[in-house]
Order: sequence, then structure tokens, then C-alpha cells
Amino acid sequence: MRKTADTSVPVSPAVAERWSPRAFDATAEVSPKELTTLLEAARWAPSFGNTQPARYLVGRRGDTTFAGILAALNSGNQAWAFRAGALLVGVAVTTNEKGEVPYAEYGLGLASENLVLQAVDLGLIAHQMAGFSADAIRASFGLPDAAVPLVAIAVGHAADAAVLEDERRIERELKERQRIPLAEFAFSGEWGKPALD
Ligand SMILES: Cc1cc2nc3c(=O)[nH]c(=O)nc-3n(C[C@H](O)[C@H](O)[C@H](O)COP(=O)(O)O)c2cc1C
Repeated sequence: MRKTADTSVPVSPAVAERWSPRAFDATAEVSPKELTTLLEAARWAPSFGNTQPARYLVGRRGDTTFAGILAALNSGNQAWAFRAGALLVGVAVTTNEKGEVPYAEYGLGLASENLVLQAVDLGLIAHQMAGFSADAIRASFGLPDAAVPLVAIAVGHAADAAVLEDERRIERELKERQRIPLAEFAFSGEWGKPALD
């Protein structure tokens, strides 16, 4: 299903077409080549002083990493994310040999946005999640203290909203996407004064 962004002017197709579906096709796989492409897109994100704080745990449906990530998700996310072809966890490495890495979380965010936009380019869907236990991820995968799990990402192939079964969940899947108006988003001259007519 497409939920193309309603933009005042055309934007990059990947940006316009990206959204966060929960209806994944439980029979479709994400190939190693597709995962490589997603991770390459993320790896080439910018970061403060090229400190490259982003790291990912990567599981494909059926392997133990997928099972470990799925087990760490909250129940609301588990209810749909089990159908994804791959589950990833984005981790910010917050220290290096020079000490604290500035903007480490920002760096992980930039890398993860590259990843989800690349997913759209590949004809895949991706859904980021904060609803998981970082402690469970730490325990399952032996993360050092400086490695902070911040986001889980479900990646896979789209399915009809009907796979969600529950009426309320299907309704949420079909709901229109919304954003605040541009006039409340970009300012010029003084805070709150719209930058564009
Ligand atoms: C950091 C972050 C955490 C999120 N956590 C969850 C989550 O735990 N569960 C979920 O279903 N969606 C989650 N989302 C998806 C957002 O709800 C979604 O991006 C937002 O509603 C905008 O919708 P769109 O991505 O379809 O444009 C998260 C998104 C981000 C960026």
C-alpha cells in the first residue's frame, strides 16, 4: 500500500514514499544482498568529525539474532514485527579513544534514515521502533557499556493490511499520514514567523 506524502512541491521519491507500515509479508525474505545495500547506505551517512558512531545488530527471520531482537520488543511491536524479513537494532557507540563521541545519537539517526530510505528504493518497507528493552538487547548480545541500543528496525516486504487481523490495527494501518504545516515548521526573521509564503 502506498501512502505518498502530500507535499506542496515534489520531493525525492524515497522521501515521499517512505512510511512506517506494520503489515509485513511473513512469507517473503530479505536477501543478504538487500541487507548489504541497506547497511552500505547507513554506513555512508555523515557523522560529527566522521566519528561514525552507528552500529547495527542484524537478524533475518529464522536465525537466532532475529529471535533475540523479537524477544526484546514490547508486546505491541511483537504483534506485527514477527512477520518482518529482518529485524535490526541501531546502536550508538558513545565513546572512542578520544573520550565521549559528540552527537553519537544524531549520527545513528542519520544512518538509520539512510537505511530506511534505501529500503524504499529497493521496494522494501521499514519501520523504526523505540518500543523494546535495551537491557534485553545488552544481555542477549553482550554489548559493552558504551554501546547504546536506541532503535529497532523491522524491514521486509509489504502485505495487505488484512494480515494484521485485528480491526483496530487495520484501521491504524490505513489511516492518513499527517504532518504540521510548513508555516509552523520553518521560520525566518523571528521564531514563529513562517519562512515561506
Ligand atoms: C525513533 C522512533 C521510534 C518509533 N517507535 C515506534 C514503536 O515502538 N512502535 C511503532 O509501531 N512505531 C514506532 N515508530 C514509528 C512512528 O510512529 C512513525 O514514524 C510516525 O508515526 C510517523 O509515521 P510515518 O513513519 O508513517 O510517516 C517510531 C519511529 C521513530 C522514528
